[in-house]
Amino acid sequence: MTQGLAFWLAFLFLFDPAFGTVVPITSGYSLAPTLAQPEGPTTVPWEASVASSWAEGGVVSQPFSNFTGSVNDHGICQCSVSMPDTTFPVVRVERLEFTAHILSQKFETELSKVKEYVQLISVYEKKLLNLTVRVEIMEKDSISYTELDFELIKIEVREMEKLIIQLKESFVGSTEIVDQLEVEIRNMTLLVAKLETLDKNNVLVIRRELLALKQKLKECEASKSEHAPLLPPPPAPGSCSHGGVMNISRPSVVQLNWRGFSYKYGAWGRAYSPEHPNETLYWVAPLETDGRVLKYYRLYNTLDNLLLYTQARESLISYGQGSGATVYNNNMYVNWYNTGNIARVNLTTNTVAVSQWLPYAVYNNRFSYANVDWQDIDFSVDERGLWVIYATEASTGNIVIGLLNDTSLEVLKTWVTKQYKPSVSSTFMVCGVLYATRTLNTRTEEIFYYYDTNTGKEGNLAIIMPKMQERVQSINYHPFDRKLYIYNDGYLLNYDLIFQQEPK
Ligand SMILES: *[C@@H]1O[C@H](CO)[C@@H](O)[C@H](O)[C@H]1NC(C)=O
Ligand SMILES: *[C@@H]1O[C@H](CO)[C@@H](O)[C@H](O)[C@H]1NC(C)=O
Ligand SMILES: *[C@@H]1O[C@H](CO)[C@@H](O)[C@H](O)[C@H]1NC(C)=O
Ligand SMILES: *[C@@H]1O[C@H](CO)[C@@H](O)[C@H](O)[C@H]1NC(C)=O
Ligand SMILES: *[C@@H]1O[C@H](CO)[C@@H](O)[C@H](O)[C@H]1NC(C)=O
Ligand SMILES: *[C@@H]1O[C@H](CO)[C@@H](O)[C@H](O)[C@H]1NC(C)=O
Ligand SMILES: *[C@@H]1O[C@H](CO)[C@@H](O)[C@H](O)[C@H]1NC(C)=O
Repeated sequence: MTQGLAFWLAFLFLFDPAFGTVVPITSGYSLAPTLAQPEGPTTVPWEASVASSWAEGGVVSQPFSNFTGSVNDHGICQCSVSMPDTTFPVVRVERLEFTAHILSQKFETELSKVKEYVQLISVYEKKLLNLTVRVEIMEKDSISYTELDFELIKIEVREMEKLIIQLKESFVGSTEIVDQLEVEIRNMTLLVAKLETLDKNNVLVIRRELLALKQKLKECEASKSEHAPLLPPPPAPGSCSHGGVMNISRPSVVQLNWRGFSYKYGAWGRAYSPEHPNETLYWVAPLETDGRVLKYYRLYNTLDNLLLYTQARESLISYGQGSGATVYNNNMYVNWYNTGNIARVNLTTNTVAVSQWLPYAVYNNRFSYANVDWQDIDFSVDERGLWVIYATEASTGNIVIGLLNDTSLEVLKTWVTKQYKPSVSSTFMVCGVLYATRTLNTRTEEIFYYYDTNTGKEGNLAIIMPKMQERVQSINYHPFDRKLYIYNDGYLLNYDLIFQQEPK
């Protein structure tokens, strides 16, 4: 379990006298603001949330002298670095380095253009010579040429003229650019050299060391999370011998959905089937931009393919409705467009195998989720099978949980909860327990409610769930990797669930 992703690295603040202001020179991770002192040493505390493999047992020595690293009582990696003098304008050097890089790139492009033009010119030279020769021959031998020959040559000459004019224009333009670039680059080199002589304290060198340190802290965290269970060991995949969801990791952003930024509604997940629990089929189903119609979905055989947007199998159905879809046993389950029906789409053939009325379920935004339209009917998969989450007029808009026969779509059993469906932002099932989320603010959701179909018990929880974007369109759980797959305003996120050890 990769818990403890909270990995804090401080910004390094330097006082730059030339700018008269405090400037951060390194960044990258969450900020724990530190004091910046115009005079005297600047201290940079760092922490990684787990103990270190490279700093086991306390203080270690590092490539530059004023650095110490240690592990504190809570197993947190800490190191501090003293920067003895802060007069070096590192920000300007960095800017210069950056500009120099850009300029030299531009220079390369222009240079390659010049080379191209030189080649072209030599070709044209040859052609001209050929023409001259031909004209000379014609001049000498006044019998052998016809008017047609003459015309042909005239045409060729005109074409050459045109080309050469074009060439000259672009060539002249780019010579200027090249000259200008050359001057700029020389200027830049001088400046950098001059600035480097000011670098009494090897700020740049230290900065590089700091980057190396960051890397080490990262490794430290990674190795720690590999073999250091602050957390209870996760239950075996597919097993329900635990006491329910206790906490959730921070999100990992997997990627933007394949259709792009404007496709803010949709769903995604890893396909689950009890016979092949470890299969790595991933599905992504962004809705059309109306947030209602499900037309296109993609399947990827591995997570790598998904990450690289390669080897996707793309299919069209006409049409699903809402972001409530899920995939189970190689079928996609979805509310059918503009109806109270639920449909099973065979993913092998991309055909609707079954379409069936979901008894008394309301649809078309009667009781959708908070902030998300067209999701009156939501599917879930867990260790127990396929579920459908919906509401009816009889339930007065409260959530109804239905266990489905995944082949026939027949409702095997229902549970009526006391939770009003339009006030939750999404739901998911784990081991027969429904979990519901609500929005706390634009950056946070909360898993605040559960209903246990095994016992009929329901109650409140307070599990904080950070998110990247404002709205959560859908949540899908995968029983094998125990992750939540969340569609968050077009971004695909996943989370690790953390379970209570003792069965309730
Ligand atoms: C380390 O810091 C101390 C005091 O801050 C200073 O006296 C010493 O010269 C520094 N050592 C190096 C190698 O910069
Ligand atoms: C001029 O070019 C033509 C074809 O482009 C070629 O057939 C001819 O031999 C060339 N003449 C000379 C003198 O190079
Ligand atoms: C070099 O750069 C400085 C400052 O950016 C500028 O004042 C100067 O005119 C430049 N020199 C040339 C030859 O471009
Ligand atoms: C839940 O996990 C977060 C980090 O993901 C942690 O900060 C928090 O303390 C945990 N809460 C509990 C109750 O364990
Ligand atoms: C899935 O599990 C089976 C049996 O446990 C194993 O033989 C197979 O190699 C696993 N496949 C993958 C992709 O992990
Ligand atoms: C999907 O259709 C194929 C071809 O008709 C069939 O072999 C397969 O069993 C079907 N899959 C499911 C899960 O129904
Ligand atoms: C599910 O439906 C199929 C097809 O109607 C049937 O063969 C199977 O027995 C049903 N399973 C359950 C658990 O009711």
